[in-house]
Amino acid sequence: MTETREITLTVNGTERTIDAEPRQLLVHAIREDLDLTGTHIGCDTGNCGACTVLVDGEPLKSCLMLAVQADGSEVLTVEGMAELPESAGDLHPIQEGFHEEHGLQCGYCTPGMIVAGKALLDENPDPDEEEIREAISGNLCRCTGYQNIVRSIEYAAEELEARAAADGGTDVASPAESTPDVAGGQDGPAFDCGVENCCGGPSLEADEADQPTDGKTANGHDAARDDGGASR
Ligand code: FES
Ligand code: FES
Repeated sequence: MTETREITLTVNGTERTIDAEPRQLLVHAIREDLDLTGTHIGCDTGNCGACTVLVDGEPLKSCLMLAVQADGSEVLTVEGMAELPESAGDLHPIQEGFHEEHGLQCGYCTPGMIVAGKALLDENPDPDEEEIREAISGNLCRCTGYQNIVRSIEYAAEELEARAAADGGTDVASPAESTPDVAGGQDGPAFDCGVENCCGGPSLEADEADQPTDGKTANGHDAARDDGGASR
Protein backbone atom coordinates (compact mmCIF):
# COMPACT_ATOMS: atom_id res chain seq x y z
CA MET A 1 0.00 0.00 0.00
CA THR A 2 1.35 3.42 -0.95
CA GLU A 3 2.31 5.64 1.93
CA THR A 4 0.49 8.97 2.15
CA ARG A 5 1.21 12.16 3.96
CA GLU A 6 -1.32 14.51 5.52
CA ILE A 7 -1.11 18.00 4.07
CA THR A 8 -3.12 21.13 4.76
CA LEU A 9 -3.88 23.75 2.13
CA THR A 10 -5.94 26.90 2.31
CA VAL A 11 -7.97 26.56 -0.87
CA ASN A 12 -10.11 29.49 -1.96
CA GLY A 13 -10.04 30.76 1.61
CA THR A 14 -10.97 27.47 3.28
CA GLU A 15 -8.51 25.23 5.09
CA ARG A 16 -8.55 21.71 3.64
CA THR A 17 -6.62 18.67 4.87
CA ILE A 18 -6.03 15.71 2.59
CA ASP A 19 -3.82 12.64 2.44
CA ALA A 20 -1.47 12.90 -0.51
CA GLU A 21 0.87 10.35 -1.98
CA PRO A 22 4.41 11.73 -2.27
CA ARG A 23 4.21 11.39 -6.05
CA GLN A 24 0.79 13.03 -6.44
CA LEU A 25 0.70 16.19 -8.54
CA LEU A 26 -1.02 19.25 -7.13
CA VAL A 27 -3.44 19.34 -10.07
CA HIS A 28 -4.61 15.82 -9.27
CA ALA A 29 -5.07 16.70 -5.60
CA ILE A 30 -7.10 19.75 -6.59
CA ARG A 31 -9.33 17.85 -8.99
CA GLU A 32 -9.62 14.45 -7.34
CA ASP A 33 -9.26 15.07 -3.60
CA LEU A 34 -10.70 18.57 -3.41
CA ASP A 35 -13.30 18.06 -6.18
CA LEU A 36 -12.38 21.36 -7.83
CA THR A 37 -12.57 20.31 -11.44
CA GLY A 38 -12.52 23.86 -12.81
CA THR A 39 -8.75 23.47 -12.95
CA HIS A 40 -8.15 21.56 -16.17
CA ILE A 41 -5.48 19.15 -17.31
CA GLY A 42 -4.38 19.63 -20.89
CA CYS A 43 -0.92 18.15 -21.21
CA ASP A 44 0.33 17.16 -17.74
CA THR A 45 3.77 18.30 -18.83
CA GLY A 46 3.82 22.04 -18.19
CA ASN A 47 3.15 23.11 -21.76
CA CYS A 48 -0.47 24.26 -22.00
CA GLY A 49 -1.26 26.25 -18.84
CA ALA A 50 -4.77 24.78 -18.47
CA CYS A 51 -3.88 23.77 -14.91
CA THR A 52 -2.76 27.24 -13.77
CA VAL A 53 -3.65 28.17 -10.19
CA LEU A 54 -2.28 30.74 -7.78
CA VAL A 55 -0.06 29.34 -5.04
CA ASP A 56 0.65 31.98 -2.42
CA GLY A 57 -0.32 34.58 -4.99
CA GLU A 58 1.98 33.32 -7.75
CA PRO A 59 0.67 31.75 -10.96
CA LEU A 60 1.80 28.16 -11.14
CA LYS A 61 1.15 25.24 -13.43
CA SER A 62 -0.20 22.78 -10.92
CA CYS A 63 0.94 19.80 -13.01
CA LEU A 64 4.50 20.87 -12.28
CA MET A 65 4.22 20.82 -8.49
CA LEU A 66 3.76 17.92 -6.09
CA ALA A 67 0.84 18.25 -3.74
CA VAL A 68 3.13 17.73 -0.75
CA GLN A 69 5.23 20.70 -1.88
CA ALA A 70 2.14 22.90 -1.49
CA ASP A 71 1.60 21.87 2.13
CA GLY A 72 0.80 25.01 4.15
CA SER A 73 0.19 27.15 1.05
CA GLU A 74 -2.74 29.26 -0.02
CA VAL A 75 -4.19 28.09 -3.31
CA LEU A 76 -6.64 29.99 -5.49
CA THR A 77 -8.48 28.15 -8.24
CA VAL A 78 -11.01 29.49 -10.71
CA GLU A 79 -13.81 28.40 -8.35
CA GLY A 80 -12.57 30.92 -5.79
CA MET A 81 -12.62 33.92 -8.13
CA ALA A 82 -16.23 34.85 -7.51
CA GLU A 83 -15.62 34.76 -3.75
CA LEU A 84 -12.95 37.46 -3.87
CA PRO A 85 -13.80 40.92 -2.45
CA GLU A 86 -13.50 42.61 -5.87
CA SER A 87 -16.20 40.28 -7.20
CA ALA A 88 -18.77 41.89 -4.89
CA GLY A 89 -20.81 38.68 -4.73
CA ASP A 90 -20.99 38.26 -8.50
CA LEU A 91 -18.59 37.25 -11.24
CA HIS A 92 -15.04 38.46 -10.90
CA PRO A 93 -14.32 41.31 -13.37
CA ILE A 94 -12.02 38.96 -15.31
CA GLN A 95 -14.80 36.39 -15.62
CA GLU A 96 -17.15 39.19 -16.63
CA GLY A 97 -14.57 40.32 -19.20
CA PHE A 98 -14.41 36.87 -20.79
CA HIS A 99 -18.18 36.92 -21.08
CA GLU A 100 -18.46 40.46 -22.42
CA GLU A 101 -15.56 40.23 -24.85
CA HIS A 102 -16.16 36.65 -26.04
CA GLY A 103 -12.85 35.50 -24.59
CA LEU A 104 -13.66 31.81 -24.89
CA GLN A 105 -15.02 29.27 -27.29
CA CYS A 106 -14.61 25.67 -26.07
CA GLY A 107 -13.53 27.00 -22.66
CA TYR A 108 -10.84 24.44 -22.02
CA CYS A 109 -8.07 26.98 -21.57
CA THR A 110 -10.31 29.50 -19.81
CA PRO A 111 -9.77 28.68 -16.12
CA GLY A 112 -6.01 28.89 -16.59
CA MET A 113 -6.32 32.09 -18.62
CA ILE A 114 -8.52 33.69 -15.96
CA VAL A 115 -6.13 32.81 -13.16
CA ALA A 116 -3.12 33.99 -15.20
CA GLY A 117 -5.00 37.21 -15.90
CA LYS A 118 -5.68 37.71 -12.20
CA ALA A 119 -2.01 37.22 -11.38
CA LEU A 120 -1.12 39.88 -13.94
CA LEU A 121 -3.67 42.44 -12.71
CA ASP A 122 -2.66 41.87 -9.09
CA GLU A 123 0.88 42.81 -10.10
CA ASN A 124 0.10 45.37 -12.79
CA PRO A 125 -3.41 46.89 -12.69
CA ASP A 126 -2.98 48.74 -15.99
CA PRO A 127 -1.12 46.44 -18.39
CA ASP A 128 -0.72 47.22 -22.07
CA GLU A 129 -1.42 44.66 -24.77
CA GLU A 130 2.17 43.45 -24.91
CA GLU A 131 2.23 42.89 -21.15
CA ILE A 132 -1.03 40.95 -21.30
CA ARG A 133 0.27 38.76 -24.14
CA GLU A 134 3.46 38.15 -22.18
CA ALA A 135 1.48 37.21 -19.04
CA ILE A 136 -0.59 34.60 -20.92
CA SER A 137 2.25 33.38 -23.12
CA GLY A 138 2.44 30.15 -21.09
CA ASN A 139 -1.25 29.44 -21.66
CA LEU A 140 -2.29 27.93 -24.96
CA CYS A 141 -5.66 28.43 -26.60
CA ARG A 142 -6.60 26.48 -29.70
CA CYS A 143 -9.82 28.35 -30.40
CA THR A 144 -9.87 32.09 -29.98
CA GLY A 145 -6.77 33.46 -31.69
CA TYR A 146 -6.01 35.22 -28.35
CA GLN A 147 -7.34 38.60 -29.53
CA ASN A 148 -10.52 38.40 -27.47
CA ILE A 149 -8.67 36.99 -24.47
CA VAL A 150 -6.49 40.10 -24.49
CA ARG A 151 -9.60 42.26 -24.73
CA SER A 152 -11.19 40.36 -21.85
CA ILE A 153 -8.26 41.13 -19.58
CA GLU A 154 -8.25 44.76 -20.73
CA TYR A 155 -11.96 44.89 -19.87
CA ALA A 156 -11.21 43.54 -16.39
CA ALA A 157 -8.46 46.10 -15.82
CA GLU A 158 -10.86 48.91 -16.73
CA GLU A 159 -13.66 47.45 -14.63
CA LEU A 160 -11.42 47.05 -11.59
CA GLU A 161 -10.22 50.64 -12.00
CA ALA A 162 -13.82 51.86 -12.31
CA ARG A 163 -14.86 49.97 -9.19
CA ALA A 164 -11.91 51.34 -7.26
CA ALA A 165 -12.80 54.86 -8.39
CA ALA A 166 -16.45 54.31 -7.46
CA ASP A 167 -15.36 53.15 -4.02
CA GLY A 168 -13.51 56.44 -3.74
CA GLY A 169 -16.63 58.36 -4.78
CA THR A 170 -15.49 59.17 -8.32
CA ASP A 171 -17.90 58.67 -11.20
CA VAL A 172 -16.16 56.58 -13.84
CA ALA A 173 -17.70 55.35 -17.07
CA SER A 174 -18.17 51.61 -17.11
CA PRO A 175 -15.83 49.60 -19.34
CA ALA A 176 -18.85 48.45 -21.30
CA GLU A 177 -19.30 52.07 -22.36
CA SER A 178 -15.66 52.86 -22.92
CA THR A 179 -14.42 49.65 -24.55
CA PRO A 180 -14.68 49.27 -28.33
CA ASP A 181 -17.07 46.63 -29.51
CA VAL A 182 -15.81 43.26 -30.74
CA ALA A 183 -16.00 44.39 -34.35
CA GLY A 184 -12.91 46.44 -33.61
CA GLY A 185 -14.59 49.72 -32.73
CA GLN A 186 -15.30 50.60 -36.34
CA ASP A 187 -18.46 52.29 -37.49
CA GLY A 188 -21.24 50.10 -38.78
CA PRO A 189 -22.99 47.00 -37.47
CA ALA A 190 -21.10 44.61 -35.17
CA PHE A 191 -19.99 41.31 -36.65
CA ASP A 192 -22.58 38.59 -36.07
CA CYS A 193 -21.93 35.12 -37.46
CA GLY A 194 -25.18 33.80 -35.99
CA VAL A 195 -23.41 31.29 -33.74
CA GLU A 196 -24.24 31.54 -30.07
CA ASN A 197 -21.19 32.54 -28.02
CA CYS A 198 -19.20 33.16 -31.17
CA CYS A 199 -15.68 34.54 -31.03
CA GLY A 200 -16.76 38.04 -32.03
CA GLY A 201 -15.45 37.64 -35.53
CA PRO A 202 -12.25 38.60 -37.22
CA SER A 203 -10.87 42.08 -37.09
CA LEU A 204 -8.85 41.71 -40.23
CA GLU A 205 -7.11 45.06 -40.22
CA ALA A 206 -6.01 44.71 -36.61
CA ASP A 207 -5.04 41.06 -36.99
CA GLU A 208 -3.03 41.64 -40.15
CA ALA A 209 -1.26 44.59 -38.59
CA ASP A 210 -0.48 42.34 -35.62
CA GLN A 211 1.23 39.65 -37.65
CA PRO A 212 5.01 39.87 -37.96
CA THR A 213 6.28 38.78 -41.35
CA ASP A 214 7.88 35.61 -39.93
CA GLY A 215 4.45 34.07 -39.42
CA LYS A 216 4.58 34.42 -35.62
CA THR A 217 2.21 36.49 -33.53
CA ALA A 218 3.39 38.98 -30.95
CA ASN A 219 3.61 36.26 -28.29
CA GLY A 220 5.63 33.97 -30.51
CA HIS A 221 2.86 31.53 -31.34
CA ASP A 222 2.40 30.23 -34.83
CA ALA A 223 0.03 32.60 -36.63
CA ALA A 224 -1.91 29.82 -38.36
CA ARG A 225 -2.46 28.15 -34.99
CA ASP A 226 -3.37 31.42 -33.29
CA ASP A 227 -6.21 32.10 -35.66
CA GLY A 228 -7.69 28.71 -34.93
CA GLY A 229 -6.42 27.43 -38.23
CA ALA A 230 -8.75 29.72 -40.16
CA SER A 231 -5.96 30.79 -42.47
CA ARG A 232 -4.98 27.24 -43.31
S1 FES B 1 -1.79 20.43 -17.75
FE1 FES B 1 -0.35 21.63 -16.71
S2 FES B 1 0.59 22.83 -18.23
FE2 FES B 1 -0.77 21.51 -19.35
S1 FES C 1 -11.31 28.52 -25.84
FE1 FES C 1 -10.86 26.54 -26.61
S2 FES C 1 -8.77 26.24 -26.05
FE2 FES C 1 -9.17 28.33 -25.54
